[in-house]
Amino acid sequence: MITTDHTQIANAQIDWDEHGNPHSRVFSDVYFSTQSGLDETRHVFLTQNELPKRFAALPAGGRLVIGETGFGTGLNFLCAWQLFNASAVADARLHFVSVEKYPLSRADLERALNLWPELKVLADQLLGRYVAVHQGFQRLVFDGGRVTLTLLIGDALDMLPQLDGQIDAWFLDGFAPAKNPEMWTPELFAELARLAAPGSTIGTFTSTGWVRRALNAAGFKMKRVPGIGHKWEVLKGRFIAWPEDVPTPPRAKPWFARPSSLPRLLPRSPDTPRTALVIGAGLAGCATAASLAARGWHVSLLERHGDLAQEASGNPQGVLYLKLSAHGTALSQLILSGFGHTRRLLERLQRGIDWDDCGVLQLAFDDKEQARQAQLAEAFPDDLLHVLDRADAESRAGIVLKSGGLFYPQGGWVHPPALCRDQASASNIKLLTHNDAIELRRDGPLWQAWDGERLLASAPVVVLAGAAEIKRFPASADLPLKRIRGQITRLAATPDSQALKTVVCAEGYVAPARGDEHTLGASFAFNSDDLTPSTAEHLGNLELLREISEDLTERLNANGLPAEDLQGRAAFRCTSPDYLPIVGPLADRAAFLETYAVLRKDARKTPDTECPWLDGLYVNSGHGSRGLITAPLSGELIAAWLDNEPLPLPRSVAEACHPNRFALRGLIRGK
Ligand SMILES: Cc1cc2nc3c(=O)[nH]c(=O)nc-3n(C[C@H](O)[C@H](O)[C@H](O)COP(=O)(O)OP(=O)(O)OC[C@H]3O[C@@H](n4cnc5c(N)ncnc54)[C@H](O)[C@@H]3O)c2cc1C
Ligand SMILES: C[S@@+](CC[C@H](N)C(=O)[O-])C[C@H]1O[C@@H](n2cnc3c(N)ncnc32)[C@H](O)[C@@H]1O
Repeated sequence: MITTDHTQIANAQIDWDEHGNPHSRVFSDVYFSTQSGLDETRHVFLTQNELPKRFAALPAGGRLVIGETGFGTGLNFLCAWQLFNASAVADARLHFVSVEKYPLSRADLERALNLWPELKVLADQLLGRYVAVHQGFQRLVFDGGRVTLTLLIGDALDMLPQLDGQIDAWFLDGFAPAKNPEMWTPELFAELARLAAPGSTIGTFTSTGWVRRALNAAGFKMKRVPGIGHKWEVLKGRFIAWPEDVPTPPRAKPWFARPSSLPRLLPRSPDTPRTALVIGAGLAGCATAASLAARGWHVSLLERHGDLAQEASGNPQGVLYLKLSAHGTALSQLILSGFGHTRRLLERLQRGIDWDDCGVLQLAFDDKEQARQAQLAEAFPDDLLHVLDRADAESRAGIVLKSGGLFYPQGGWVHPPALCRDQASASNIKLLTHNDAIELRRDGPLWQAWDGERLLASAPVVVLAGAAEIKRFPASADLPLKRIRGQITRLAATPDSQALKTVVCAEGYVAPARGDEHTLGASFAFNSDDLTPSTAEHLGNLELLREISEDLTERLNANGLPAEDLQGRAAFRCTSPDYLPIVGPLADRAAFLETYAVLRKDARKTPDTECPWLDGLYVNSGHGSRGLITAPLSGELIAAWLDNEPLPLPRSVAEACHPNRFALRGLIRGK
């Protein structure tokens, strides 16, 4: 089991001075120079990293990645973004990765950013996305993908080693070394060096001798340069090379490494845009198309039905429910990062129609569930989840309940087709309906999708996002995906059912009305290939409703409903054996087994042979019962693999989702 340090992250504790400037109570230091905040940021971080020149020199489609230690109020981020907007060509991209152990509360962030009227337009965008920022990797997307912020919420020394990416310019901005020594250690500097892209630069406000020497020892070449305001001198530097006397850090195993073939497959000139086919227009396909389109790709989104979101992603309401673990498993980390990402995407949709952040109440329906909930409440902060006793749960939910439970105030319901539509709406995504890709053929550097005798589309990159249907293609036929039929029941809202104020879950779930209907879900029918709605499963759903609340059942007049009048829909969930989605590049299975056959005898071996990738073929599938939470971030993960960007998840979580994990496990188990 993959775990991570799981100490609860606390918000920054801030005192405000008489001029309204933020000070850290814990570190007794200022967040920025109160005398010359903007000038200092620009001088220390933008100028010393030569960003005016570097942003201006970015070619069309180019990208620069900034890394920062200490996100704080986001002032540096906003200044970099402002300069980027002013200097870079329209289709360049800025990727900003910043680590922060004590994120500001939203209210404090707003108060701090109010100090800078000239940054207001950007600050408002940051504030608009600053929701559900919990521990772990949190991705925030701005300006249609032109600017990406990846916040690593946790201790710098825990988080940076999990980052897979290359940083072009570093902003070192912990509190003063004497007050915040753990942000200035040789171990941390080694991480900066590990992550440094060739020619990476670095700027910091301190000129302390031991910091300079330790950075030099890590492989940077630092020099003192004139400072600004009350700073006499500051440091700038450049990454030269990993020090010869220090063992090089371990690289990703070849079966999880980034495919090296991609750059040569892809044109980079603005006249020949990069093109991709995404097969399947549910949550996974639409998210993949959105993430690629945001990076300038031209995407053909192939869907066999007459519209998007006709299968699992077609339910009227799905729940943003976080099945977390108190032990920080890979799945739990993915859920926390995915939830934050989806939650922020939803901010631009219409509340009440497309989604609602009404909260989700998970009832403590038996002793085991109660114990699990108590453990979770210990492990996670209150603004993510907290226990409610029965009386409080009833007042939250607005109905009579048998027990209290765990309340997720930022959760709610989503109309999945609305999210799909929003994700597929970019002008460089072409939705091709009634396109059933039956066969994939290789034609030189291109993949072709064929429907019998008809060539549907071709491109150097294909992402298979057709849930369990991807098993029809020989290249992905061996992925262990299973279909599990599920059915929801639609119940007409009544005047009395309007009292329901939150989603309530026990074994099933019921959501507050969307329009004049509640969604009640959902059955699990293993080994069923039929999608005709069944009366037996409707009756099963009504039983789930009674377990949630007899009171609500009565309010919905659901006891006396004639079974044959019940309406709903059925679809297949698509699950993998370890419940993690399958996201990433595909290898040729037979060649993989041959290349790494030595692992059958010795699982510790790492042959130095590149993985036999199926160049340009990727998968985004296996989202089980939680696609609303995992599919959108998986789109970002695919795009990060394809664009050689920092991954939006810890390396270990990306590996836990990697398509090669199954073939690898098979080899190691001697199969
Ligand atoms: C009853 C039920 C209740 C659920 N409740 C929730 C919930 O409350 N919360 C939650 O987060 N998740 C829930 N889920 C799970 C969620 O719906 C799925 O995880 C998610 O929709 C999966 O999205 P997808 O894009 O992978 O698959 P799908 O939505 O199934 O999309 C796959 C698409 O690919 C197309 N396709 C496949 N093969 C081809 C091909 N060869 N050529 C062209 N097109 C192709 C299909 O037509 C389909 O449109 C529920 C699922 C079910 C069934
Ligand atoms: C000087 S402030 C950063 C100011 C910030 N760059 C800005 O633009 O507002 C230093 C930041 O480092 C964070 N920090 C301190 N120790 C840390 C650690 N061990 N890991 C991660 N972040 C830490 C603090 O919480 C604080 O937000």
